[in-house]
Amino acid sequence: MGIEIIGIGSYVPEKILTNAELEKMVDTSDEWITTRTGIKERRIAKDTESTSDLAVNASKKAIKKANITPDEIDAIIVGTITPDMSFPSTACFVQKGIGAKNATAFDISAACSGFIYGVSIAREFLRSGIFKTILVIGAETLSKITDWEDRNTCVLFGDGAGAVILRKTDSQSDILSTYLGTDGTLGDLLYMPGGGSRNPASQKTIKERLHYVRMEGNKLFKIAVKKMTTAAQKAIEIAGIKCEDIKLIIPHQANIRIVEGVANQLKLPSEKVFLNIQKYGNTSAATTPIALDEAISQGKLKKGDIVVLVAFGGGLTWGATVIRL
Ligand SMILES: CC(C)(COP(=O)(O)OP(=O)(O)OC[C@H]1O[C@@H](n2cnc3c(N)ncnc32)[C@H](O)[C@@H]1OP(=O)(O)O)[C@@H](O)C(=O)NCCC(=O)NCCS
Repeated sequence: MGIEIIGIGSYVPEKILTNAELEKMVDTSDEWITTRTGIKERRIAKDTESTSDLAVNASKKAIKKANITPDEIDAIIVGTITPDMSFPSTACFVQKGIGAKNATAFDISAACSGFIYGVSIAREFLRSGIFKTILVIGAETLSKITDWEDRNTCVLFGDGAGAVILRKTDSQSDILSTYLGTDGTLGDLLYMPGGGSRNPASQKTIKERLHYVRMEGNKLFKIAVKKMTTAAQKAIEIAGIKCEDIKLIIPHQANIRIVEGVANQLKLPSEKVFLNIQKYGNTSAATTPIALDEAISQGKLKKGDIVVLVAFGGGLTWGATVIRL
């Protein structure tokens, strides 16, 4: 018995923020952003739009494509670092939003690796037979934790959501492998200090701008290339396939130069590497499911193809999965 993606959907907010507009907000340029990151524009959620709103929109599309009813969903797993609230979990809001009354629902916090962590957990639930149908989502409204006065970070991030519905199948489709890793000793390279139990919200935390992402981009860059390469290699090895068997690799969209570095290390030609960073920037846990949805709808992937998803993010966390569609 394998596992099949029976439905996939994605959603990004309507509002587009271009590099030209950012030039008016901080000391930056379209030229700098494009050459250093590959990003041209990103999507920004409305003030009234939360992460679960994006996730619900993506999930409804996935449910429609899967041709199932929401009450067939046994579990909802949301990877996010921008939850609607500390609690209830964003997954609980999604359950309510799509009317999946039979689903158990929970979030996982693994930053940009959140979707791949979610797929990995879902795979084990399905293999063990505990659940039959699982909705896995990567969703973020990073714009809400971005310091719009910090040019080092504000040019990088965007908002969006992607969702897949996984189900056991007799077909050849399967999640052939997953591989996950963590290094908590490097957590201070990418984090948001305020709002949790260490620095609960106060006038002081607001004044010190602790409710925004802090990042040491340069140090992360090198680690990202290394860890994403290793994660992809491990997942490929565990799956028992060769690089030539891969139709497409979908790397986390943090920086075009990181993606190129990973592709070089894996000796994969550019036509086998999916990129949409130019349109959305880094949407953390949402990048890989949004990209997978786009790759399928653009005809770059079809049934039976092998795709590798690989991500890296705050924690630090990293992970990869090899999927035969
Ligand atoms: C953030 C990142 C794009 C910066 O690119 P970089 O080539 O490493 O650039 P640096 O940080 O070395 O900065 C180079 C210069 O550009 C400046 N700079 C930074 N942001 C800028 C911006 N938006 N516009 C113009 N200049 C900028 C810096 O101040 C620095 O100037 P200085 O040399 O006078 O000090 C890159 O490091 C990156 O993508 N890092 C990884 C991000 C990541 O993986 N995140 C975690 C995974 S989700």
